[in-house]
Amino acid sequence: MEFLRWDEVSGSGAGISTESRNNTFVPQGDTTRPKEVGPGVSITQTQAWFDLIQHVEEINNTHLRDLLQDEERCASMFLAAPTANPYHVRQGDREDMKRMPKAISSGALDSHEDYSQSSLILDFSHQRVTQKTIELLLELAKAAKVPEKIAAMFRGEIINKTESRAVLHTALRAPRERVILDQGKNVVPEVHAVLDKIKRFSEQVRNGEFVGATGKALTDVVAIGIGGSFLGPLFVHTAFRTATDSVQEDATQLPPQKAAAGRRLRFLSNVDPVDIARALEGLNQETTLVVIVSKTFTTAETMLNARTVRQWIVSKLGEGPPWARTVSRHMVAVSTNLKLVAEFGIDPVNTFAFWDWVGGRYSVTSAVGVLPLALQYGFHNVQSFLEGACSVDDHFHNETLSQNLPVLLGMISVWNVSFLGHAARGILPYCQALAKLPSHIQQLSMESNGKGVDMEGNPLLCEAGEIDFGEPGTNGQHSFYQLIHQGRQIPCEFIGVVKSQHSVFMKGEPVSNHDELMCNFFAQPDALAYGKTEAELREQGVPEELIGHKTFSGNRPSLSILMQAVDPYSVGQLLALYEHRVAVQGFIWGINSFDQWGVELGKSLAGDMRKKMTSVRANGTWERDEVGEGLNPSTSRLLRHYLAGMQHQAEDQLEDFPTGLVSEDDCEDLCPPSPTRRSSDQSMPRMTRHDSWGCLDKLDPRWG
Ligand code: F6P
Repeated sequence: MEFLRWDEVSGSGAGISTESRNNTFVPQGDTTRPKEVGPGVSITQTQAWFDLIQHVEEINNTHLRDLLQDEERCASMFLAAPTANPYHVRQGDREDMKRMPKAISSGALDSHEDYSQSSLILDFSHQRVTQKTIELLLELAKAAKVPEKIAAMFRGEIINKTESRAVLHTALRAPRERVILDQGKNVVPEVHAVLDKIKRFSEQVRNGEFVGATGKALTDVVAIGIGGSFLGPLFVHTAFRTATDSVQEDATQLPPQKAAAGRRLRFLSNVDPVDIARALEGLNQETTLVVIVSKTFTTAETMLNARTVRQWIVSKLGEGPPWARTVSRHMVAVSTNLKLVAEFGIDPVNTFAFWDWVGGRYSVTSAVGVLPLALQYGFHNVQSFLEGACSVDDHFHNETLSQNLPVLLGMISVWNVSFLGHAARGILPYCQALAKLPSHIQQLSMESNGKGVDMEGNPLLCEAGEIDFGEPGTNGQHSFYQLIHQGRQIPCEFIGVVKSQHSVFMKGEPVSNHDELMCNFFAQPDALAYGKTEAELREQGVPEELIGHKTFSGNRPSLSILMQAVDPYSVGQLLALYEHRVAVQGFIWGINSFDQWGVELGKSLAGDMRKKMTSVRANGTWERDEVGEGLNPSTSRLLRHYLAGMQHQAEDQLEDFPTGLVSEDDCEDLCPPSPTRRSSDQSMPRMTRHDSWGCLDKLDPRWG
């Protein structure tokens, strides 16, 4: 079969990035094109792909200004998610609600209907698509066997082939009675056993039954973890912190904000000792519970942070008697590697398992997120979050393609990336509680779909994956929106909320504070879509020399997700919506969205560097030539500069050498005094050089 490059097929290629034009290959001539993917047939070789490439020309002749005039088109692009959100049901309807299925069908909505019962609305009418585009995209989904791939994922087939694993994060939020098999074994009972254990443990900690080594209640939690063991839980924590809605079925089931009263949840992710100082600032070892979250329990950053914080605890509280060792009262773990957890000194009773069929970035609904969040907000709130995620899982699993929100979202992304050539995507929550959504999506999407080869390891024949970034509105508007409006074309996703977590309506103000925020949410998609023409500017009397500067081309795509409120249930829905749309994109591109080999090279080079630095530290040879051995001149020069700087600091101001976090007084009992140590402020944990050089080994030689 003959292949031509994208630009050779599509003429002008207007709106198509250079990269896309150069890298996308399509079959040519009178060839009969395959209907679907199969052995040796990539999605880019199918008829459906070719039809979309040809359709780009049609779309390039449209402008969103005109497309948005089409009432029927707009109505067909306005859909409601599964609605049965227990937080939004009017009191009178609550009994009926209980009888409703958790997920009900979505559908295109009549523009005059009342959707207040819908927890989430998707409007993609501001995308550069027509109804025909959507039909062609759905044909593409069929050609890529998306329905079969969704079914295979839910069935627990080994779809993460490079790691020989099933992909079953949906089992983490499945109801107790469901049967989900991994290699013939129903995993749901194990999932619920861990959930039950978390419920018990979190209640014991919260009600003071499980106390610290000195008998004090554990009111503060520090969750140590990175990547998927951090970003998802941080996103949910940020959304819960100010959430005031409750299901109100039971007076003891306080909404998240109230349930967290008197408690603190901190995250420690970066191996930068400054992050340690910030995470521990103002905390008291006696009342602090540390949750080490690591799927592998080998991640260098997490393990060094865990050892450092263990040292911080033991230095103050001592090791404790054999029957109640301090570590077991103040440190618990979430991991798939139970052996390494035990070796670390954590009581297996306080270890919360998950499974290798849960990818790190898909793990927030496992103990990774559930444990720290249940400790802070009570298990009932986390349970609602899981139910919300489950409602979207069911919708994704059962709904037809044309009504399936994650499928539609995924296909729109494929259209923007692979056909219109947009490399980036803005995630723009008009809601401070969703401030950490962009960071979570960055990992979820970019680690999943940032791939260069297909499932079989062949180079991709199209652009895949997008560059995600974002900030909450209106902060983003005063930062990078200039580029979005007049610079590069970046499809934007606006996420807004009908009911604010905290409504403020000040006397004398024309609108509420939340209205003001939402005015921007509604204005931005239109500004991007319509732009401003030269004629309009002239009509407004804009001086000729400024016409070019003040013109907005418009025709810039966006979509809007309008949530009824940000409560645990809807946060679960939003999370699952993004998880599944990322998977859909991977299914189309034929890549493995569930591995992450691209993070390995940097990690292994850091390991080589660590060996070099260890030897330099041990031998004091940083001025000698062998420091640079095996390195290129650039890296060698930088490393030498760093080591010289550290040597200088070590001599001049040893107390600032950030290698540990033990206050000098605490450390006095444990380590030989340092001749260069100076007196210090005892209100903050102090960083001293000798701690991690020798102190850990002296405490317990087994701790590495
Ligand atoms: O950065 C790569 C990665 O493996 C992520 O996929 C993962 O979420 C993160 O590191 C943390 O890994 P772990 O939970 O094993 O510490």
